[in-house]
Amino acid sequence: MGTGASRNPDSSSHGSEERDQAGGQLYVSLRMENYKLNGEITPHVYGSVPLVGSWDSSKALSMEREYTSMWVLSFVVPPNHETLDFKFLLKPKYSSSPCIVEEGPNRQLTAGTLHGDGRSAMFKLSGDEVFEYRVFINVDRVSPFDLAASWRAYQENLQPSTVRGIPDISINSAAEAGPENGSSASLELDLEHYVVPAPATAANSGLVYAANMTETPRSLSRFGGMEVIVPDPTASSSGFGMVESKSVGTFSSMQKQEGHRGLFVDRGVGSPRLVKSASAASFTVDLKLYSDAKNSMPAAAGAVAAAAIADQMLGPKEDRHLAIVLVGLPARGKTFTAAKLTRYLRWLGHETKHFNVGKYRRLKHGTIQTADFFRGDNPEGLEARNEVAALAMEDMISWMQEGGQVGIFDATNSTRKRRNMLMKMAEGKCKIIFLETICNDRKIIERNIRLKVQQSPDYAEEPDFEAGYQDFKHRLDNYEKVYEPVEEGSYIKMIDMVSGHGGQIQVNNISGYLPGRIVFFLVNTHLTPRPILLTRHGESRDNVRGRIGGDSVLSDPGEIYAKKLANFVEKRLKNERTASIWTSTLQRTIITASPIVGFPKIQWRALDEINAGVCDGMTYEEIKKNMPEEYESRKKDKLRYRYPRGESYLDVIQRLEPVIIELERQRAPVVVVSHQAVLRALYAYFADRPLKEIPHIEMPLHTIIEIQMGVSGVQEKRYKLMD
Ligand code: F6P
Repeated sequence: MGTGASRNPDSSSHGSEERDQAGGQLYVSLRMENYKLNGEITPHVYGSVPLVGSWDSSKALSMEREYTSMWVLSFVVPPNHETLDFKFLLKPKYSSSPCIVEEGPNRQLTAGTLHGDGRSAMFKLSGDEVFEYRVFINVDRVSPFDLAASWRAYQENLQPSTVRGIPDISINSAAEAGPENGSSASLELDLEHYVVPAPATAANSGLVYAANMTETPRSLSRFGGMEVIVPDPTASSSGFGMVESKSVGTFSSMQKQEGHRGLFVDRGVGSPRLVKSASAASFTVDLKLYSDAKNSMPAAAGAVAAAAIADQMLGPKEDRHLAIVLVGLPARGKTFTAAKLTRYLRWLGHETKHFNVGKYRRLKHGTIQTADFFRGDNPEGLEARNEVAALAMEDMISWMQEGGQVGIFDATNSTRKRRNMLMKMAEGKCKIIFLETICNDRKIIERNIRLKVQQSPDYAEEPDFEAGYQDFKHRLDNYEKVYEPVEEGSYIKMIDMVSGHGGQIQVNNISGYLPGRIVFFLVNTHLTPRPILLTRHGESRDNVRGRIGGDSVLSDPGEIYAKKLANFVEKRLKNERTASIWTSTLQRTIITASPIVGFPKIQWRALDEINAGVCDGMTYEEIKKNMPEEYESRKKDKLRYRYPRGESYLDVIQRLEPVIIELERQRAPVVVVSHQAVLRALYAYFADRPLKEIPHIEMPLHTIIEIQMGVSGVQEKRYKLMD
């Protein structure tokens, strides 16, 4: 992009209003092309306080060499920032000779738009020598969490081209006042100072487009004679590394012809009966796998396990597997709803997978389809779309026959004909519930359209936002022309539910434990962005002694953490109109939360630490010595192991379900002060970590995990206030 350009070239005030509404921050990146500078003179930037630092040239920010001839400096400003003035200047590295400030008026950036024509910077040296260098200024919107990730990357790797400053912090705030300092004054520093890297998971990998995290198509791993390399589809569905590769989805023209030949001539699709993919063989049920799946105890506990067993043993054969088939126009939040539901069901211990037909389409046909491809009266496009839907359905049924329980089938499925095709394919194999998402709120649709154009791989190769936007609007029109609301079969209709304000759910012909839970979850969930802060209590006296359980008070460092936490919460939530603080009923969490003022506090029994039963108050060493069998059993299967007269992790997960539902339902921020095992379970829900990993998740003391729930999914950021 050239000077002053942003992805949306609209520089009208209307455009900036929209940018403001979309949230996020503006990531400003300044580049200067310069073949001559040899390191003795370094380009710098100085400007408005505190956004660019200071008009004091001795405090100007140095640009870093990105590669031989390019120098770069990036920083972040809020979208509604005041006009930002800045200038480039050249500074001698060592000598005290004066800086050379660029000629001309200040450069000005207002709401992401650069004023004036500033494609070059001119510097007058002594005498009449003039140097003119090309400059490039990009302004992009980024989410706060992309920023955090970038900031962390910078801190870890000291990569020069990453973020140099974050808006509500002063760039020059040195880190001298260490977090170890117990006085609350140390928190006068910026919050970013405390950011630490989170373990790499789907929740913080920077992937925000939910469709990327869905199942990797297995039926497309070999297609039309061309091999597409995909990760092992049976690998953990935790989202690790499950990235839709653009290179896979973007075929060369030759490959594309191959694909088309396969599509329109060889395969003769259109009727699902004719579909024969490479995975057709897996339609023959693998009896061993199937019986293993039938006999194995579901990973969940208590009511969940009982219900799952009842479903497996007692219900009709097709009821053992459930397909939630999404229905809805594009940009109605289907993929986000599907991703959320998948996460919830997995956390409860149900084998659940999210199949996204768009992903199949991109793999089969590339990302370059225009709106025409989606026209209802384009027979070739229609056939192609039906074909990929059938392939995804095939994969989903094959996976169910290998033991999968709930498949979430994510596509528009917006005509009765398409849905009939799916119902035919499911006959005798799984039960279908249609989940239709209807949204009449133009503002939300508009926001979703913009997000889609910015984030969807469909538009990744489209550099012009406006062109992508128009194309997607046409695509939507094409769908709207043929859209038929669901009136058949079992269905759940979510009408205007995404905002969390009002709306309604209609259900038809829904029965059974799992469908009931799904409806309950959907009634309570929404997409309003809000942070959830998770933290353990401050260090307790029992922690110091290595004793588990108990109800002791805080150690001295624990007391300091309580103060720091209060200071942190005050600062972090200063712009929130309301929030609530949740603790367990144990005094170490209540004491930790006590210095927090201004927000209501709620004690939850469900947030109490795992009950260690007869081992409560012992050290791990004592358990090992006095109860070696118990010790070994827990070591072998920490997830299922239940302390004598106490609890297992599965028990904890089960008692936390109402907490999760309430966290989903809340629209204001929540601070949860709880305990190691409980927080592992809660965190696993947001980070979509598999059940078996839960007892081993790192959950350090004196660290806050901020979960951001929003339209772009779930992301996290960690703050370590003390060692
Ligand atoms: O040690 C602190 C503690 O919160 C104990 O009270 C609790 O039993 C334990 O952590 C849970 O962690 P783990 O499951 O790893 O023993």
